[in-house]
Parts: sequence; C-alpha cells; structure tokens
Amino acid sequence: MTKDEFETMLVHGAFEIDQNKGALTMPIYQTVTYRQAQLGVEQQFDYSRAGNPTRLILERQIALLEEGCFGYAFASGMAAITAVFFLFEKGDEILIPCDLYGGSIRLLDSYFKKFGFDWRVVDTTDPAELEADFSEKTKAVLLETPTNPTLQVSDIAAVAQIAHRHNALVIADNTFLSPYYQRPLALGADIVVHSATKYLGGHNDVLAGLVALRDADIAERISMIQKSSGGVLGPFDSYLLLRGIKTLAVRMDRETENATAIARWLEGRPGVDKVFYPGLESSRGYAIQAKQASGAGGLLSFELSEGYSLPVFFAAMRIITLAESLGSVESMACHPATMSHASISPEMRAKMGITDRLIRLAIGLESLASLKEDIERAFAAARAAGENVS
Ligand SMILES: Cc1ncc(COP(=O)(O)O)c(C=O)c1O
Repeated sequence: MTKDEFETMLVHGAFEIDQNKGALTMPIYQTVTYRQAQLGVEQQFDYSRAGNPTRLILERQIALLEEGCFGYAFASGMAAITAVFFLFEKGDEILIPCDLYGGSIRLLDSYFKKFGFDWRVVDTTDPAELEADFSEKTKAVLLETPTNPTLQVSDIAAVAQIAHRHNALVIADNTFLSPYYQRPLALGADIVVHSATKYLGGHNDVLAGLVALRDADIAERISMIQKSSGGVLGPFDSYLLLRGIKTLAVRMDRETENATAIARWLEGRPGVDKVFYPGLESSRGYAIQAKQASGAGGLLSFELSEGYSLPVFFAAMRIITLAESLGSVESMACHPATMSHASISPEMRAKMGITDRLIRLAIGLESLASLKEDIERAFAAARAAGENVS
C-alpha cells in the first residue's frame, strides 16, 4: 500500500455512511443487546461482547491499515496481548527480547508461566544468534521494534524467516511506530498487537488494544478467545479510537519531525552522555530501521550527565509533563528506572541499558521552539542545582 493510499484509508477506510440517517462519522451503538427478528435465525449482532457495530468498523479499520485480513479490539493493550497468549498451551514457550514492555513480561512470568506457558529472553536484534535459541517447545517470538526506552531495532523479516523455519509464529507489538510507519504483517510477522492507547488513539483519552492478522484459522481462535474472555473495547472507546486514527499520519509526521530535531540537537550537547533514537544515523539499528519503517516515531531517550540534577531537570519543565505513557499530542517525560521499568530488578535494568540517568521523552505536537526552550530551561536549572550539590 502506498503512502497516499494509506493516508486516504485513515480517513475513509472501513467507514461506511450510516444507512439509517446518512451520518458521516460512525455512530456510537451504545447497546448491549439487539432485537432478534425471528426465533432461531442467526443475525450479525446479538450481544455486544460477541460483536458491536462501532467496534466492528474499528476492527475492520485496523485490519486494513495493518494490511491484514482480520482485526480485533480489546479494552487495553494488555487485554489484546493476553488474548494472543491464550493461543498457546502447556509446554509451549515464547521467545522475547530483554527490553520487552514490562507489563508483557509480568503477564508471562506471574500468570501464563504457572499454566505451563514459559518464556525465555533472547537477543532479537541479532538474527545470526537467534537461530540457536529455538527449541522443540518454541512456538512464538514476540518482537517489539523499536523497544522502549532504549529503542533497539530488530529485523522483522529476518526474524520471521528464522521463526517460520522452526514452525513458530512471530508476534509484533507495533505500538511505537503504528501501521503508518511500519507494517509487520507485510514483512512476514503473523500477528500484530497494539497498545492503541498510544499513537493510534493519540489524545491520552482512551485505553485500548488491537490485534491484526491474516491467517483465518488463528483469526477464528482469537475471535473465540475475545468472546470467551470478554475484554472487549466498549462502543464509545471504539468511536474515540476511530476518531483518533483519522489524524494518525499528520500527528505522527509532526511528532517525528519534532523528535528528530530534538534528538539531533541533544546529540553532543553538554549535559547529555548518550542519545537513543532510531532516526539518528549514529544509532545501532539505523540501517534496519530505515529498511523496514518509513519513520522513526516520536519517542527518544537520553542519559543526563553527572553534575546535572535529575529531579530538578524534571521539575523545571513547564510544557513537557512528567507522566507515564506516550504517543499523545502532549509531550511527556518519564524516568524509566523509577516509573515504567521500576518493577524490573536493577541487574536486569543494567542489562537492558536502563541507567538511573536515563530520561525518556515522548514528543507531542507543541512547537519545536517551545519544546527546545522547555528542555533548555531544564538543563540550565539541573546544571545550577547539580553545581550546588557538588
Ligand atoms: C509496547 C507496549 N505494549 C503494550 C502496552 C500495554 O498497553 P495498555 O497500557 O494499553 O494496556 C504498552 C503500555 O505502555 C506498551 O508500551
């Protein structure tokens, strides 16, 4: 699908003009149940856990955007990932990168493991090494590319080739780039999952998860898991997500433009030891990122130098807000060691490259000048406070 086709699909895609009243936006079918026309005759909608017209358009939309054939909407990214993990059985194993989203690791380790579905950490950024990691038990690889917060890049096509040789599925968490910049199914992945709470929703006002895939058998199983486990997205949240998706391209382009300029400006700047951003030519995964994605996204991280007070840095910003999450119109800053990755042991964090001086910025739609001014203010205040301490 070309960029032009994709951008038009964001606005029109699965939307249908309401047959009853001619409404251009998808109406919110805020209903649990549906009048059944005749006893014993099946109809498209009978109960909203199984299907809802607003949710259905969203599910068709994510299938189209991810170049898949089937889509499913859930109450959160974690509910979507849980549904995908339900595909596996006792004795199966999944391979994951060490810096996979912490919530996904917790779900595997605290819950699925006790039912006999095990997990193992591997280096998904190195396909040459990955081949040896597969065992008889390995039924899937879960990729996140780029990862959070150090933005490591894995070659989706190369991983898919290896996994398929071992009859294992590739599940790609495409939260950070969205289908606008990266379409894992077209690169060989089998299942895409999203925390649609982030870029797809884009406005910090809806928590949602999506699944997209091509295989009809797996789709039927996910559909049954969705109906059975019940973590579905409500009609109003489905509407909010449909609305957010329409502006995905313009939001992501602006956020990426801002993030690229900020990453370049931070690189080599006093007060910064290291910058992580897959759009920087100096980043380790740059070539693969450029090959498989058409943009680097709005997320970047950097290490604040010693001599700059970390608490003061966060406190001095007036536009960029200290908050969890990313992918919204508002810029947000996070301290991974004490926030998003606090539940991970310091040893594991060190392995993942998450130092105590790492700051993650999720860049939004504010003007570049005001964002730079805000960060500059934080550096100045942190430097002054750091000097006073030493
Ligand atoms: C990459 C990734 N996947 C999944 C999730 C979970 O999504 P949610 O918070 O919508 O449940 C998150 C949340 O931050 C995430 O960053």
